Amino acid sequence: MNSIIIYGSHYGTTKQYAEELSKRTNIEAVSFEKANQINDYNNIIYLGGLYAGGVLGMSKTLRKLNNLSDKKIILITVGLADPTDKENINNIRNNMKKQIPKEIFEKASIFHLRGGIDYSKLKFVHRTMLKLLYNSIKNIPDEKQTAENRAMIETYNKKVDFIDFSSLDKMIKEIQDKN
Ligand SMILES: Cc1cc2nc3c(=O)[nH]c(=O)nc-3n(C[C@H](O)[C@H](O)[C@H](O)COP(=O)(O)O)c2cc1C
Repeated sequence: MNSIIIYGSHYGTTKQYAEELSKRTNIEAVSFEKANQINDYNNIIYLGGLYAGGVLGMSKTLRKLNNLSDKKIILITVGLADPTDKENINNIRNNMKKQIPKEIFEKASIFHLRGGIDYSKLKFVHRTMLKLLYNSIKNIPDEKQTAENRAMIETYNKKVDFIDFSSLDKMIKEIQDKN
């Protein structure tokens, strides 16, 4: 079956995961801005950075899909918050449900990875968004913080890198199982 890896990345962490996945599976990786003929592929692996709960480029890309019957879809998010935290996973998935058609959400295998952030590289608009968010959550007592808030507070104004290529193993297994 022919396969493609598509990624949505502003600052490169998702792109790094996509390129590593590409190297390990021999499947071509392209940015979502360049992925036009997605109906030509049977296996579609989409990786997107999380931005205020949205998966960068995902809905724009998957909107182009017209026949799901012969498709295998794997969706992978890359965010700062702990991707093993149950509440975080629930929040991410509930948000994803709102961004893509129900049939795609139900058909897809979904995984979550941890990326990184470097505040010195952020665009003004992103820095401002995070500053507003930080100011609105910083005084909430620790025991009431969500994993997302905690990650945001702990990394605020810093440079952190949680990229872990070994966490791609289960996705590679899923891709190979589906071939
Ligand atoms: C404006 C903004 C909003 C973000 N929102 C979230 C979020 O809702 N959940 C999360 O886990 N991480 C969030 N992050 C962190 C990014 O998902 C993380 O930095 C990721 O590695 C970015 O991927 P990229 O480097 O491929 O763009 C946010 C980062 C920025 C700058």
